[in-house]
Amino acid sequence: MRGWLIYHRLDAERNAAFIDWFLEESRSLNIDLQLVYTDSIHITLRNGKVVIHTKEKQELPDFSIVRTIDPLLTAQLEQAGIICFNNAEIAALANDKIKTHLELAKLSIPMVEMQFQTNVPLPHPPLAFPFVWKTAGGRGGKEVHLVENDTQYQVLQQQYANQSVLLQQLAPTPGKDVRVFVIGKEIIAAVLRSSQQDFRANYSLGGSASFYTLNIEERQLVQRIVNHYDFGFVGIDFLFDENGSFLFNEIEDVVGSRTLSEVSDVNVVRLYLEFIKKRLEDAGCTQ
Ligand SMILES: Nc1ncnc2c1ncn2[C@@H]1O[C@H](COP(=O)(O)OP(=O)(O)O)[C@@H](O)[C@H]1O
Ligand SMILES: [Mg+2]
Repeated sequence: MRGWLIYHRLDAERNAAFIDWFLEESRSLNIDLQLVYTDSIHITLRNGKVVIHTKEKQELPDFSIVRTIDPLLTAQLEQAGIICFNNAEIAALANDKIKTHLELAKLSIPMVEMQFQTNVPLPHPPLAFPFVWKTAGGRGGKEVHLVENDTQYQVLQQQYANQSVLLQQLAPTPGKDVRVFVIGKEIIAAVLRSSQQDFRANYSLGGSASFYTLNIEERQLVQRIVNHYDFGFVGIDFLFDENGSFLFNEIEDVVGSRTLSEVSDVNVVRLYLEFIKKRLEDAGCTQ
């Protein structure tokens, strides 16, 4: 079983320990996993066929673990016959917050009230202050802002002109959210992320993490999302409403494991590789 672990070269440096973890576990599972940088993959569409070329003229893999945010790269790999984790549909969904909310609304998953701005700027703030402004494609909380007055609103309209934006009610417990780690159909664990100094609970912005035990209601809600999709490894994030119930916030496609490793000894890489191996065996790949 041959696989590529795909990273952007710059991200690979920061994730060296995680990459080593993947390479080590794959050896013990008899999976031939190689680290491949995005800049060494070149793809053509010729005579109706997607063809993958690599600088080192590597043999093509059976599968790829795509650890870079590039849903169209995944789509091309899939079209060339490579099974991808996460798959192209999940990558396209999770990396577009508007698409995600529209799709999860179809499943009647609770979420805050919101409006989308996809084309023409809304001349007036559409919600009572303070509300949340976020771009459809942002990550790590960097493009998420609290809007407290009209001046801030106008500044954000200038700053993000021509980008798709979500305008959301501020959930009543700012600085707190729960990330549920999922592999395939299985809930692995959940982490409560909280920040004392910011309404954004992102770990990369200084938030802290603690183990979170899901109650039955929360578990059922997550399971309803999970059952509907063909996830590989994702994080599903929730805010809280005024009664402490989950409000869906986002699905993380290239989800990290730092918070999970901080609060538990779950070998998430091993579980992910076992899931992938089983999936490939079911697809007829035996070696
Ligand atoms: N509507 C909201 N109400 C309250 N807090 C929010 C809301 N939206 C986002 N947040 C906070 O901001 C953080 C970052 O927002 P998120 O939508 O997850 O964007 P990103 O993809 O950049 O992480 C969330 O983890 C949460 O703590
Ligand atoms: Mg987030």
